[in-house]
Amino acid sequence: EKSQNFLRFHVFKRPFYTVKCYCTDTGKLHKSDKSLSKSLFWQNIQARKDEASRSILVRLSGKTSEESLLQYCTSHGKVQHYFTYSQQQHERYALVEFKTSDGIDLILDRAYTPNSNGHVQSRFLSFSGSSQGSDKVSTSQCQQVNKDIGFAELYKDLAVAESVSDQLGILTSKLELRDPETRLRFVVCSLIEEAFQQILPDCSLHLFGSSVNSFGRRSCDMDMFLERNTAQGVVPKKKGKGQYKLGYDGPSAESERAAAQATLFTLASFLEKQVPHCMSVSRILQAKCPLVKFRHYATGLSCDLTADNSIALKSSELLYVFSQLDPRVRPLVFMIRHWARHHGITNRAPGYWITNFPLTLVVVFFLQTRPQPVVPSFEYLRSLADESDTSVVDGTDCTIPGDLSKVEPSQNTQTTAELLQEFFSFCTTFDFESSSLSVRTGQLGPKPDRFSPLHMENPFQTQLNMCKNVSEGLLKEIQKHSQYALQMMDVPGFHGPGSESEVIHPWGIGALLAPLKIRRNGKRSALANSNIGDVLRGLSRKSPKTATKKQPRHNSN
Ligand code: GTP
Ligand code: MG
Repeated sequence: EKSQNFLRFHVFKRPFYTVKCYCTDTGKLHKSDKSLSKSLFWQNIQARKDEASRSILVRLSGKTSEESLLQYCTSHGKVQHYFTYSQQQHERYALVEFKTSDGIDLILDRAYTPNSNGHVQSRFLSFSGSSQGSDKVSTSQCQQVNKDIGFAELYKDLAVAESVSDQLGILTSKLELRDPETRLRFVVCSLIEEAFQQILPDCSLHLFGSSVNSFGRRSCDMDMFLERNTAQGVVPKKKGKGQYKLGYDGPSAESERAAAQATLFTLASFLEKQVPHCMSVSRILQAKCPLVKFRHYATGLSCDLTADNSIALKSSELLYVFSQLDPRVRPLVFMIRHWARHHGITNRAPGYWITNFPLTLVVVFFLQTRPQPVVPSFEYLRSLADESDTSVVDGTDCTIPGDLSKVEPSQNTQTTAELLQEFFSFCTTFDFESSSLSVRTGQLGPKPDRFSPLHMENPFQTQLNMCKNVSEGLLKEIQKHSQYALQMMDVPGFHGPGSESEVIHPWGIGALLAPLKIRRNGKRSALANSNIGDVLRGLSRKSPKTATKKQPRHNSN
């Protein structure tokens, strides 16, 4: 703002004021989103985006030492944050965040660009420097990112807990996204956004789903949606070899869906051919929500790209809000999501199973409907929103309050362990056949149709059932596994060191999440004479087959 060379345009765009500055000397557009939102969700996202815009991702070649990279970077600007990681064997990467982006501009100006491969210039660089101190160079010393903790390590940590509630806290801290993983997601998103802007100048790319909703695990996929910001019918097109242009497309002018499909189609080719480290690109454009899947090699992230999907970001905000209302929400949701994945109840591939989003809402609904509710209904939360919270997406009211301090703390005093047991009991006794679950009202309602075995109302578009895909078989599977979990939780010794009986392994949620091979052969000596061991072996004999994998289809709600 101090520079006289900048023209400023203030554009009001909820939930931020976007300040666009055009430099009169260079004509270059500088953008800065100033968050005026009181919502922690949006403030976090804005802070992460800001960090990412001041960061570079660097591949360290050969024996180049980290020290020489750091030295090089600090000679160009003040480094605010720095870490290295390893994805594949013998490959090391560093993320360097500068205090201001001036340092990056200098580095990019001086960077050598091999023009031959046609890759876009970006803040993703390779660095070959001195190998000073190279005897220390080893990928085994670098932290691993975007990979889940191994079973063995997890069980060891769970075994030393003091109670099942304590275990649930440990599970959450071992599975959740850590700071470097969140940083990497925002950096990759900003790198891809910059690349896309070369052929779609006004577009922006947003992260949503478990990367931002506070329920993300280290290995979770990266969901992004593209805001095209182009006039109706204007889509990027591939012209010739490595050449792209913005063109007018008749069918895209008539339908948003056709525009999304055409844009995603071209962006998929662009990713494949022009954006470094984006590979295994697949186009799923006929799905209800057209998407492009790809893998970002340097970070190991599986990415899902959709177009104009702002409502999904509001869904992420809603989950985030519920996670902030009570400290028991996250441990319980992490456990149920992990347990469901362990038993094949949730699955990444589309099909007749439940995805993590509706499953999380089932847990939220359960917490809303305790005799003493743990979290309030969405309807109640909406009543606390003020005018500045108003948000309408594609004609749908998606208002969520930003200030949660007005929400009274819950009077419910149950432990997370008690709630977990009650959740399994809820799953076995709830009348799914005639009742619908509504997070909006926090009450069960009559089922609008008898055709879907499970009816979970979409919180924003209440006429839609989010569990339309779920088959009768899967619902029965959920109920059976819940029944087994309940049986196990009643076994003496389940509650571990604090209980009267002898300590046995695995106990508590370690037993609920025991690898299937322990159940099958029961050879682990620790299990040999224990009651839980007997139960596990007994259950494995009765264990139902996993849900019938009929023709997979995409959820369409
Ligand atoms: P992960 O399984 O850890 O990736 O969790 P996630 O919350 O990111 O779920 P997923 O990647 O399957 O979906 C990403 C987002 O898409 C969710 O946060 C929702 O906004 C949306 N979504 C996913 N499944 C459904 C669904 O069944 N119905 C609706 N309406 N939206 C969904
Ligand atoms: Mg996801």
